[in-house]
Amino acid sequence: MDESTIRAQLADLPVPDLRYFPSVGSTNDIALSWAESGAPDCAVVIADEQTSGRGRMNRHWITPPGSALAFSLIFRPTPEEVARSALFSPLGALAVSETITGLNLTAQIKWPNDVLINGRKLCGILAESVWQGNRLQAVVLGIGLNVTPVSVPPGNLLKFPATCLQTELGSWVDRWELLVTILKEILTWRPRLGSPQFMQTWEDRLAFRGEEICLETPNGVALNGKLVGIEADGGLRLRLADGSEERMLAGDVSLRPAS
Ligand code: ATP
Ligand code: BTN
Repeated sequence: MDESTIRAQLADLPVPDLRYFPSVGSTNDIALSWAESGAPDCAVVIADEQTSGRGRMNRHWITPPGSALAFSLIFRPTPEEVARSALFSPLGALAVSETITGLNLTAQIKWPNDVLINGRKLCGILAESVWQGNRLQAVVLGIGLNVTPVSVPPGNLLKFPATCLQTELGSWVDRWELLVTILKEILTWRPRLGSPQFMQTWEDRLAFRGEEICLETPNGVALNGKLVGIEADGGLRLRLADGSEERMLAGDVSLRPAS
């Protein structure tokens, strides 16, 4: 695949510019510096391979060549979107889950930012921001989606089981058609960011809803409770053992089923 072929594939979308890399450190890093130097709204950075892909808190995201989708979309948020900027990451998860649903598979969203099929992680999402003083200049929405079995890291490197689309679907997947569908879904849902339909669809897809879960922080402090639902700001609502409710913002917490 080369840049001109991908440009042709995306020609019908309102994507004003794109950069394609056969191999790159992280598409989010390229997109962040492009955003700082004036990238337009909806510009996209795409890579075949990432050598230092990142998840949250600088955890590694593995993208071997020829096996996955790894891209970052740059948003120039409107004032209304600035007020809802925490919902860009769920926007990515919703768009991917809609795409998966369109393939007749059941997708679930593991709050805040992973898409699961059959309880395994298919896709990770990393939204990062560019600030000028206290003004939000851009949001970079990075999406990594496992397509072929080669993209699935060995179990010993994972804290959560992983899968890929071809295994779940039982058939070959055209990565670039998949990219076009996900971008279309993002562009369709973007005007509804934070709307009742957006929040309801997200909540309907929530993994472990009504189940006992555990929220872990990097220093190990955990909060156990029943996952009740999502707040308007994208936070998670948990019911604790004593019947009280607690709200958690995404921050540094990882969600696990209670053991
Ligand atoms: P979780 O470990 O549940 O994903 P998290 O969502 O907080 O928690 P992230 O930082 O979002 O973690 O994701 C990075 C993690 O994803 C890495 O720690 C690694 O375990 C896992 N990972 C890395 N590459 C892949 C991949 N291609 N497919 C699935 N999982 C991956
Ligand atoms: C997660 O699992 O929480 C986040 C993983 C995000 C991976 C994608 S791949 C494209 C973009 N570039 C990166 O370095 N990270 C994101």
